[in-house]
Amino acid sequence: MADKKISKIAIYPGSFDPLTNGHIDIIERALEIFDQVIIAVLHNPSKKSLFTMDERVVMIKQSFNGTKSVLVDSFGGLLVDYAKMKNAVAIIRGMRAISDFESEFQMALMNRKLNKEVQSVFLMTGFRWIFTSSSIIKEAAQFGGDISDMVPKAVHQKMLEKYPPQKKAIDLNQDFFYFRILFIFAKTIVMLSLPPESRAACVNAFVLTSMEVLAVTMDRIVFFDTIL
Ligand code: PNS
Repeated sequence: MADKKISKIAIYPGSFDPLTNGHIDIIERALEIFDQVIIAVLHNPSKKSLFTMDERVVMIKQSFNGTKSVLVDSFGGLLVDYAKMKNAVAIIRGMRAISDFESEFQMALMNRKLNKEVQSVFLMTGFRWIFTSSSIIKEAAQFGGDISDMVPKAVHQKMLEKYPPQKKAIDLNQDFFYFRILFIFAKTIVMLSLPPESRAACVNAFVLTSMEVLAVTMDRIVFFDTIL
């Protein structure tokens, strides 16, 4: 009797808003166990997401360009129904820290109750991705943080479109720095050119000028500190 190869299909469901290197790590591990992994993006209109469904699917496809054993799809409704429709034997979920455990456990038990034929398989992410999540990456990117080594290239590019690098705010006052210094020196020269008897009366003004120089210089130091 000829060997009939039974291909084992697993579903990797999620919001993938957006796909991260942590997700990729899980998919690569799943491919060591299953013949095919279907990345199934949940279509959930009531959940506010940064990327549209199309954008998420395209980014995932670009990130797995040419990997035959990975399919990208979207689904709505019950996950177990979708898994059955795709003849999948397992649902893959990634486990990071302990904090994931409770909700994942609850979800797996519900899925088992709904369909006993689909097994939930939990895979542990690589240590490097333990604290990586789509939401923390989005937050960092929003405020100009460098997330380039946490997401695939295609996602990073799209992220830069959503959150273009911002120019750091500069106090307009600082633009007059050189003018202010020039003005202080001009004042000093005028004071020095006064006859000695009037100069004595300007001692207070000299003190004020020195304080002004100090203030402007300190200002500049703080300014440099903020832009460096
Ligand atoms: O990436 P996420 O947001 O943690 O993924 C959650 C997901 C998509 C796996 C979960 O919300 C889901 O399976 N939704 C489909 C609806 C469903 O089947 N619910 C019953 C099981 S809790």
